[in-house]
Amino acid sequence: MGGRILVTGACGQIGTELIQVLKGVVGEARIVSLDIRDVGGSSWLDTVFIRGDVRDRELLFRVVREFRVEVIYHLAALLSATGERRPEEAWTINMDSLWHVLMIAKEVDHVRQVFWPSSIAVFGPTTPKERVPQVTVMEPNTIYGITKLAGERLCEYFCRRWQVDVRGLRYPGLISYRSLPGGGTTDYAVEIFFAALREGRYTCYLSADRCLPMMYIDDAIRGTLELMDAPRSALRYTVYNFAAISFSPSELESAIRAHLPDFEVEYKPDYRDAIAAQWPCSIDDGAAREDWGWAHRYDLPALVKVMLEGVRQRIREEAVGLSSPS
Ligand SMILES: NC(=O)c1ccc[n+]([C@@H]2O[C@H](COP(=O)([O-])OP(=O)(O)OC[C@H]3O[C@@H](n4cnc5c(N)ncnc54)[C@H](O)[C@@H]3O)[C@@H](O)[C@H]2O)c1
Repeated sequence: MGGRILVTGACGQIGTELIQVLKGVVGEARIVSLDIRDVGGSSWLDTVFIRGDVRDRELLFRVVREFRVEVIYHLAALLSATGERRPEEAWTINMDSLWHVLMIAKEVDHVRQVFWPSSIAVFGPTTPKERVPQVTVMEPNTIYGITKLAGERLCEYFCRRWQVDVRGLRYPGLISYRSLPGGGTTDYAVEIFFAALREGRYTCYLSADRCLPMMYIDDAIRGTLELMDAPRSALRYTVYNFAAISFSPSELESAIRAHLPDFEVEYKPDYRDAIAAQWPCSIDDGAAREDWGWAHRYDLPALVKVMLEGVRQRIREEAVGLSSPS
């Protein structure tokens, strides 16, 4: 059997979706999932499951050697909203684990590639708000953004100094219905669909006009795999700006109301609105488009259509006990 692919944070929003797609590409037998969550057994989505903490360097080395891992998707992290409530944990989980993964990639010969997600949270109040360039001012003031900025520099360092093939994307807010988001500032853009279909109303924790960059999950997973498939020589950057659409809660509300005319939203901004206020509204991802051919497929109307269909189906399945929220 060929080398294995290790996915850390495998039970999260992105891990769940990535594994489903990877299974179709390489087969479940080649995927090893790792997460701190208890999934009630030794298998997750038909892949081998290791329950463990990404801060445990010995565990990571052992898993990589035992399964002859070739590629690591290092997704485990504490996200922006949770990070602000638990800053020390956000620092140790996000930074210690990345250090371990990069050291493994440097020292274990059969590891040939690492994917590590950055975020639009690397940007801060001094970054331009519109069409943020690939190279720009980055002075984040959330602990999450600080870990992502330090992480980017670390990836760049390992890449330049030891030729570790690590690649990353500054993900915008990702929108999905098969797996649910885990404590980010952009989670509202998923919750709103469930609330629209279940209750016909939603209380939004962001301001009505808080515009943010967003992307449908299928675009994000496809882009991630396209970046990993790109020839290294084509890549000018270690971590790329990555964008699709930008909208505010009120624009999303209107797009949903085109399908559900009675839908109502009330706005009660909380601490997450203050986090989002530091982030840009739109991103210039021209370098990704030029270097490895990135192109998104879902605009706002397409995203709303697929989300309403998917969430409706999921609610139906939950009602008859076929699906449980992840
Ligand atoms: N979802 C988004 O919109 C988004 C946007 C930008 C960047 N990202 C980045 O993508 C990555 C994955 O995000 P996600 O949305 O899937 O997050 P998530 O919160 O849904 O999943 C993270 C997973 O990591 C696991 N985890 C947390 N601490 C761990 C530990 N110490 N050891 C092992 N596992 C641990 C959690 O149990 C969870 O299953 C993160 O690095 C995140 O910063 C996500």
